[in-house]
Parts: sequence; C-alpha cells; structure tokens
Amino acid sequence: MSFVITTPLYYVNDKPHLGSIYTTLICDSISRYKRLSGDDVIFITGVDEHGLKIQRTAFDKGVDPQTHCDEISNIFIQNWKDWDITYNKFVRTSSKNHESIVNDFYNRVKKSDDIYMGVQKGWYCVGCEEFKDNPDNSSTYKCPIHQKNLEWKNEENLFFRLSKYQLQIENLINDPSFIQPKERRNEILNFVSKGLKDFSISRTNVSWGINVPDTQNHTFYVWFDALLGYVSAISSQMHDPSLEKSIDNGWPADIHFIGKDILRFHAVYWPAMLLSAGMNLPKKVFGHGFLTREGQKMGKSLGNVLDPNILLSKYGKEAVRWYLLKDITLGSDGDFQNKRFVDIINNDLANTIGNLLNRTSSMSRKWFNNSVPNNDNLSNDNTLEIYAKEAINSYLKHFNSYEIDLAANIVLKLATNTNLYLNEKEPWKLIKEEKNICLVSNVIYNVLESTRIIGLLLLPLLPDLSSKINVQLGSLYNDNLSWNEQLNWGQLKHNSFLPSPSPIIEKLEYE
Ligand code: MSP
Repeated sequence: MSFVITTPLYYVNDKPHLGSIYTTLICDSISRYKRLSGDDVIFITGVDEHGLKIQRTAFDKGVDPQTHCDEISNIFIQNWKDWDITYNKFVRTSSKNHESIVNDFYNRVKKSDDIYMGVQKGWYCVGCEEFKDNPDNSSTYKCPIHQKNLEWKNEENLFFRLSKYQLQIENLINDPSFIQPKERRNEILNFVSKGLKDFSISRTNVSWGINVPDTQNHTFYVWFDALLGYVSAISSQMHDPSLEKSIDNGWPADIHFIGKDILRFHAVYWPAMLLSAGMNLPKKVFGHGFLTREGQKMGKSLGNVLDPNILLSKYGKEAVRWYLLKDITLGSDGDFQNKRFVDIINNDLANTIGNLLNRTSSMSRKWFNNSVPNNDNLSNDNTLEIYAKEAINSYLKHFNSYEIDLAANIVLKLATNTNLYLNEKEPWKLIKEEKNICLVSNVIYNVLESTRIIGLLLLPLLPDLSSKINVQLGSLYNDNLSWNEQLNWGQLKHNSFLPSPSPIIEKLEYE
C-alpha cells in the first residue's frame, strides 16, 4: 500500500511565496523519510487554477485565464525543481482528466441525493473564495487574511447537503488522530457543534471553471473542484485516468498538509463530500501555522513578502530548509528573522555539525594515516553509542508523529553531545603520549561514527548536506542496506580512507 501525502493545491494568482515553499518542504521531507523507511510514497502537489480570483487576476493582466494559468503553473514546476522537491504527481485543475473526475464525483454525490438548487445570499471573500459568517459591519469589514472588503452575493446556486453528515463528521473529528495539532481540533469541534449548514457548490457568475453537467450556466465552486485534485492526481499519468482508477491505486490520502486557514474545508467539507460519494476518508489533516516576517504578517499590501527565490540564490536551499524545518514548531506560527536565520545556520550547521566533522576528520587523517582509525582494541567506552541509539529512537518517534522540528533538534543535540564528548576526552592531549594511542583511536572512531549517524539522520531533512558529510567520510552510505539498517552503530570501516576535509556549508554574513 502506498503512503499518500499532499500539499495544498496552490492558487495561481501569483508565483510561490515563502508559505507555499514551507508546506512543500515539509511534505518533501516527510516523503523522503517515508521512502528511506521503505514505504512506497505518492507525494502529491499542484495548482488550483479555477475560480473568480484567478479569473480576475487574468483579466487584470489582460490575458485569457488559460494562458495565465499555464504561465504561473510553469513557474511552480520550475520552482519545485529548483528546491529539489521530490513530488510524484503535480495536479493542474484545468486539465481534462481532472475535469472528468470532478464530473464523475459529482454524479456520485447527486445519486446520494445530496445536491439541490437554492439561493445563496451572503458576504464573500474572493481572496479566500469563501462565504464569511456575516460579520458585523459586513460592508466595511476586511478579511483579516487578505485585507480586502467582502462582496455581497445573491444568486441561484446548487447546494450540497452538508447538514446530513453532522453526526458522521462529529464522530470523525472526535477521533483525536484525525486533526493535528490538537489545538487546531478545538476550533473545528466548536465550528461543527454549532450545526453544519449546507453549502453552495456552483456559481453562475464565474466562467473560468468546470461546467456543471445538465445546467445552463453553472460552473463548479472552486473548492468543490480543487479538493478533487487530490484524487485525480493519483491516476493522472495512467492510461485512461478515472475516479475508479484513483480509488484503486492509492486513495485515501494518509495525510493532507495545509495551513490553518483552510482547515474547515479539509476537515469538514471534504470528508462529508467523500462520504456522500461513498469514498474512504483521508486519515489525517495537519494544519500548520502561518509564517510571519520580523513579527509582521507577510503580505503584498505590507510590502514585506519574502521572495523564496532570493533566499534560495543568496543562502542556498539547505540553509532555508534547515531554518524552516528545524526552527519553526510545526503547527505553530513562526517568524522569519534575518539575524536569527544567520545565527542558526552558522551555529547549527557550520559550527556544531560542520566543525565537528572537519576537525575530527583532520585529526584522524593526521594521526592515522589519512584514514579512519583501526579500532581493533576497542575500549569499553560506549558513551556515544548510547547517545546515538537514544537519538535515533526519539528521532524516529518524532518523524512518525510528524514532529519534524523535534526530529531535527534531536540530530542537532546528538551533534552537540558528540562535540562535548570530544572536548571532554581531549584526544589532542592524549596523543602526545604513545601509550594512549588505543584510547585516541577509540575516541576518534566513536566521534566519526556518530557523525556518520548524524549525516544519515539528516538525509530526509538536508539531502545535499547529508551527501557532503557522506563524501567526507569516504562515501559510506550503502545502497545495499536499508537506511534503517545503516543506522546501526559500528558500520564505519576501520582503516578506510578519509578524503581531505572542506567546509560542508559556508558561514553566512549579516546583511
Ligand atoms: N487553493 C487553495 C487550496 C486548495 S487545496 C485543495 C488555497 N491556496 S493558497 O495558495 O491560497 O494557499 C495555499 C496554502 O498556503 C494554504 O495552506 C495556506 O494556509 C498557506 N499559506 C498562505 N500564506 C501563508 C503563510 N504566510 N505562511 C504559511 N502558510 C501560508 O488556499
């Protein structure tokens, strides 16, 4: 069985921003981890191309929506290449096969008698593509996410009978494993407890969308269309893609990774739609927090949006990956601060991990003929072995519960403990006396072996840095052994050649 993981399908009103990079990096890291653990992974990402917001963006640019979507979708694809994102499926909701799957799905929902015609009146945020719960002063109220006024809508729409699924949704969200982190669950429990209302799934004033079968001028509401992207992705590259093929070849998703603003759609509307269509439900929805910049929400109007491509070309992907994955508690809001970014990269990657590797490798090369010491006379000192085993266990536990920041911090702690061990043993003093040679070879072997483990543990988080560590240790990663097997202590080969060290990451300067 495959492990299916999804990012949100990003709106193509603009090119990717740091928020989209963040979610995508998280999913990439988890996908890499799962593959290393032996799972067959289907990592789905893509773009949400329909709806009023995109229609207007294209109109303002003076191009037809398809041309606009082609342009931005290509930028997304190029960006994911630049960031080395290992996705398996890239969905475009304007594709033909997606359209036919939306139609098949709609027919199933219709058969369940869950569609009816009604009138939709209310205040709508085009940025969110969502009706808001009629806030006070609706006409002057600005959506807190988009800082734009709401628009009044009053039109005939098709409705989905969400209310019919009240009990089933309550049961679903009462299962603590469905919504993560748990603080986010309360918000949804509260929303559902107020009673679910049917919601409209078609529009009559939006031409840039999928036509609803057997209607005059209705297109599907962009969310009813986009959520199906997770399903259509699965069979997208197969011969004759279809709803059935997607169901047979991977659905349901194991986890949907999303930002907290779109949790309702994923944890309430989407499961109800799937129940109606007689399909299995995703196993988990993870709502991460928002990234801010120097304490302020990032937004075009504030002019403080961080362009991820600038970060990439200035600092490289490993530095940005480490900051976002290690320093931001997954699930909470996180702030991007330039000074902190520079400090973290220099302290964690250049000093703690990089120096550990370089100084130990230099000592080993100098004292043991450019190689890993011969460790035939092993002492009973297994301090580092114990540290490493504990670190591996808790790293796996955290990764399995999607606590990536905690897993990354465990790797760093192992590196810190290894440095402490080295400083405590002071092999540079011991080596002055001939009688200590066995002791020194033992200390150096332990430190190099711990560094090998650190490199392996970094593989899902910082793949490039991990391979640099591997090269410096003499290219030890072994394709014939599983990653888990390679994590067993003691596989660094005695007397194996150590190449001359060079920094695995450059130190960053403050701006
Ligand atoms: N198209 C919908 C999703 C459909 S999924 C079937 C959408 N797109 S979006 O482009 O507006 O947002 C995509 C994701 O980016 C959302 O999960 C949103 O929470 C996230 N983020 C937007 N701004 C963000 C930050 N500043 N920080 C972190 N994530 C943020 O919603």
